[in-house]
Amino acid sequence: MRIILLGAPGAGKGTQAQFLMKNYGIPQISTGDMLRAAISAGTELGKKAKQVMDAGKLVSDDIMIGLVKERIAQADCKNGFLLDGFPRTIPQADAMQEEGIIIDYVLEFAVPDDVIVKRMSGRRVHPGSGRVYHVEHNPPQQAGKDDVTGEELIIRDDDKEQTVRKRLAIYHEQTEPLVDYYRRLAEQDKTHYHRIDGTQPVAEISKELAQLFN
Ligand code: AP5
Ligand code: ZN
Repeated sequence: MRIILLGAPGAGKGTQAQFLMKNYGIPQISTGDMLRAAISAGTELGKKAKQVMDAGKLVSDDIMIGLVKERIAQADCKNGFLLDGFPRTIPQADAMQEEGIIIDYVLEFAVPDDVIVKRMSGRRVHPGSGRVYHVEHNPPQQAGKDDVTGEELIIRDDDKEQTVRKRLAIYHEQTEPLVDYYRRLAEQDKTHYHRIDGTQPVAEISKELAQLFN
């Protein structure tokens, strides 16, 4: 199954990707995690991406399309994948169409901006795996530590309120047009489109997804 997770920064894409990956064995392709890994590794891509990400802007379409094409070609994606954070612009979505990649489901997580701004201040992540927690809404078993490895959790560099607001503005301008893009494809029976109320508790949303896929 090929799934796109669509939604604003902090809408819960990564959180539900973890659920879907665990329960359905579909690999998560998080372009944000891929870029953060490149930054930690100090690659040329990482150096370029860091400034852009810290400013809350988008990395160029060419780079992102190349990265995703390469990732999708790997063996573990043969039976499907979960795209988390891609496509994020019309040219990125067009590139998928041009490659003839059929998306079975587009899941949109709808969350108002003010809820997101509040949420982001409580996010903690495990940089090694990309696992994501929230100090209140989805706390780790032991405060400040990853459930699987016990390693320290961190605050993402782009989770400062000012950067979150910038990312939200860019979402509305460049990514939100994909809502109509994929709704139109669904009307032509070329994909399924499902909008989820992303303000529900994490477990409720997972339940809704489980009902959709069972
Ligand atoms: P990326 O890492 O993709 O960030 P994002 O899309 O802004 O999304 P987030 O990871 O911030 O949010 P999420 O929806 O995954 O929410 P999460 O589950 O963590 O991209 C980062 C940057 O990389 C971009 O800004 C850009 O520069 C670059 N980039 C990446 N892809 C690109 C592309 N294709 N093109 C160009 N540039 C690209 O949840 C957030 C918090 O809320 C957590 O604390 C979580 O525990 C909590 N939470 C989750 N669900 C709930 C709930 N239902 N109720 C309460 N709390 C919840
Ligand atoms: Zn994420």
